Amino acid sequence: MPDTSDRAAAAAPDPAAPARRVFVDPHGPVVVEGPVEIALDDGVVVRSDRFMVAVCTCRRSRAYPWCDTSHRRRVRAVSPSEDRNP
Ligand code: FES
Repeated sequence: MPDTSDRAAAAAPDPAAPARRVFVDPHGPVVVEGPVEIALDDGVVVRSDRFMVAVCTCRRSRAYPWCDTSHRRRVRAVSPSEDRNP
């Protein structure tokens, strides 16, 4: 677990730094301009050097904290034409 002062230092804003842009998909991930480091609950810090990083907000990803598009999975409704027995 990282020291809380490390977290505070990492979170301290640099007024000279350009603002990082974040895109929020209401039904999917938060997309952040990379590179990105994410400090997980257990203290592990993971990093992505991608230009754009999709961070999972649904907690269904098998690659959590990265979005693997698992949020798209839905139970498909059976249409009346598919509901007939052959
Ligand atoms: S937001 Fe995409 S898998 Fe969770």
